[in-house]
Amino acid sequence: MQLVIVVLAVLGLLCCSTAAAAADTLELVLVQLIHRHGARSPLTPANASLVCPRGCGLLNYQGKDMLLKQGEYLRGRYNGSRPDVFNSTTPFFASELYPSGTTYDVRQVYSRSTDLTRTLQSATGLLKGLFPNETEYFPAVSTVQFLQDQLLLIDVSPSYHIYQQLDANKFTAQLKVFVDGVFPDHSVVTAMSVENLIDGYCSGEGSWVYVNCILTLQDIAAARNAEGRLSSLTVTQQYFQQLNSVREQWNAYYFPFNASNAVNVARGSLGQNIVQRMLQNMFSAIASAAKAPTNPDLADFPYKLMHYSAHDTTVMPYCATLGNDGYMLPPFGQLYLLDLLRNSSDGSYHVRAAQSVPGQTPESMHSVTESVFPLHCIREDGTPYTVTSITGTCPLYDFQRYINSSLPQSPDGTCYLAPEALAAIDCDVIGGDGPLPNTTCYFYRSYCSTVACPNGTMLSPSTYACVVLSTTSVGGSVSSGIVAAAVVASAFASFFAALFVAKLWGRRKAAKGGKYTVVAS
Ligand SMILES: *[C@@H]1O[C@H](CO)[C@@H](O)[C@H](O)[C@H]1NC(C)=O
Ligand SMILES: *[C@@H]1O[C@H](CO)[C@@H](O)[C@H](O)[C@H]1NC(C)=O
Ligand SMILES: *[C@@H]1O[C@H](CO)[C@@H](O)[C@H](O)[C@H]1NC(C)=O
Ligand SMILES: *[C@@H]1O[C@H](CO)[C@@H](O)[C@H](O)[C@H]1NC(C)=O
Ligand SMILES: *[C@@H]1O[C@H](CO)[C@@H](O)[C@H](O)[C@H]1NC(C)=O
Ligand SMILES: *[C@@H]1O[C@H](CO)[C@@H](O)[C@H](O)[C@H]1NC(C)=O
Ligand SMILES: *[C@@H]1O[C@H](CO)[C@@H](O)[C@H](O)[C@H]1NC(C)=O
Ligand SMILES: *[C@@H]1O[C@H](CO)[C@@H](O)[C@H](O)[C@H]1NC(C)=O
Ligand SMILES: *[C@@H]1O[C@H](CO)[C@@H](O)[C@H](O)[C@H]1NC(C)=O
Repeated sequence: MQLVIVVLAVLGLLCCSTAAAAADTLELVLVQLIHRHGARSPLTPANASLVCPRGCGLLNYQGKDMLLKQGEYLRGRYNGSRPDVFNSTTPFFASELYPSGTTYDVRQVYSRSTDLTRTLQSATGLLKGLFPNETEYFPAVSTVQFLQDQLLLIDVSPSYHIYQQLDANKFTAQLKVFVDGVFPDHSVVTAMSVENLIDGYCSGEGSWVYVNCILTLQDIAAARNAEGRLSSLTVTQQYFQQLNSVREQWNAYYFPFNASNAVNVARGSLGQNIVQRMLQNMFSAIASAAKAPTNPDLADFPYKLMHYSAHDTTVMPYCATLGNDGYMLPPFGQLYLLDLLRNSSDGSYHVRAAQSVPGQTPESMHSVTESVFPLHCIREDGTPYTVTSITGTCPLYDFQRYINSSLPQSPDGTCYLAPEALAAIDCDVIGGDGPLPNTTCYFYRSYCSTVACPNGTMLSPSTYACVVLSTTSVGGSVSSGIVAAAVVASAFASFFAALFVAKLWGRRKAAKGGKYTVVAS
């Protein structure tokens, strides 16, 4: 009896795949997307209560609408009304339970966000637009603690973070030259700082403050533009593009992948974590599709949608890893899609990409524009090529081969620091019993506990020193894994609170004195 069923099932499969082959189509298997949060109130190092009286860095009405519109756009893309990208009369997100495909279902959608209110709300906003059936709208959005979010936050990526500190002075000088070219008349900057209520901050001493003043003006201007208030700021409105060009210059220094740069090559492109996760998701989807769909063990997969809600500082590295280094000024709500498709006649898998962006002003009604996102791939023989049409695809392995081309060449990966960088943060020392000389070294050893100490030494969980292994401790029972866990757990909270207080993320308080870096995330 069982045998008969199996035979019938096999015949059934043969029947359907043959029929599909006749149509010669690519069927959609998995949709993945990553987006920046929608419009938010500004981030500012000064006068927060005046610049953002309702709170800084919070998603605002316009920002919410941007993500709703993105969700509606996605619904249209996958509900059967776009045969160019999804040629089926049954909506992709339809299930037996919810045939209309407009109902949120945790079994087919996975969402993950950074742990900030603006990204969490952006995630639920998109889901609401995509699944408007309110009866069943109880979205689940996963997150992890902010300082442990190495998947979605570039700021906690050790190599990036430390080189950013080490390069800060050199790059500030370089950016100052660029700024002076863009704003030869300093009175324009003064006028903008008065308009935006940060003139006291902007009149501070030094290149670093001056450059950071411009970056803050850009941040405020982008927020005012989204609120529809830019026109009341005459000078700022006039110089909005120039402000944007400075921000873009800042981004273009830190986020692209430079294959001629030894540090970049050693640590890999900065979007590897998230892009490798997306590749893993594809392989999981493929593995689960190969099994019977009724297997109750497959509760986690097949998902049909993997959704990541993050920051501009997340999507720029994503673009860099996909080979699109020019995308260094992502607007609010910017979204990137990665579809996995299966050729039903030969069973091969293919990847397709697109991008969509909501209008940035209230007058635009945040209507969404979809456009090509160039897809870079490498053939088995090593030939690179680029697909630049909205429906274009490339074979999954050609895509993976391109992604692989910027994998870290150092076994230390995102923990890679060149010897000079280790020396610069006083982290090349062995032994010592007092506190570590440099807090950046502490950061490095905490995050990179498995690679931070040279061979023949191990990380001490109490002092964070790299201590020489004695013959007795070699035979001891403390494995380095346990040491690493103890190190991270014991000092995480207090140390990182101190380190990151200088970075203003909107929900956190700004540093009183020290340097403040605008992370327009
Ligand atoms: C699917 O695969 C078959 C066999 O390799 C090929 O002839 C066909 O062009 C492919 N279809 C699409 C839409 O790529
Ligand atoms: C598909 O979604 C779009 C956009 O949300 C909507 O306008 C359209 O009516 C839907 N079409 C179908 C067939 O459900
Ligand atoms: C959609 O599928 C139908 C029937 O399967 C086919 O005739 C049509 O050409 C397809 N359209 C596109 C854009 O692939
Ligand atoms: C909306 O959800 C309710 C509750 O699950 C369900 O009964 C209804 O069919 C859904 N509506 C649509 C259009 O899917
Ligand atoms: C705060 O705003 C007031 C009023 O516009 C301004 O006079 C002052 O300089 C600002 N403070 C700073 C630190 O920018
Ligand atoms: C890439 O890195 C090399 C070596 O550090 C450097 O000379 C070059 O200017 C960089 N290129 C870009 C576009 O930043
Ligand atoms: C990409 O790299 C991974 C890990 O090294 C490897 O398993 C995989 O086969 C590579 N993919 C291609 C297409 O070369
Ligand atoms: C750590 O080293 C870096 C690089 O030399 C330096 O900029 C920083 O001020 C040092 N920090 C402390 C707390 O000594
Ligand atoms: C440390 O030891 C590992 C494994 O034994 C070896 O691969 C590596 O080259 C050594 N590193 C140094 C710097 O000696």
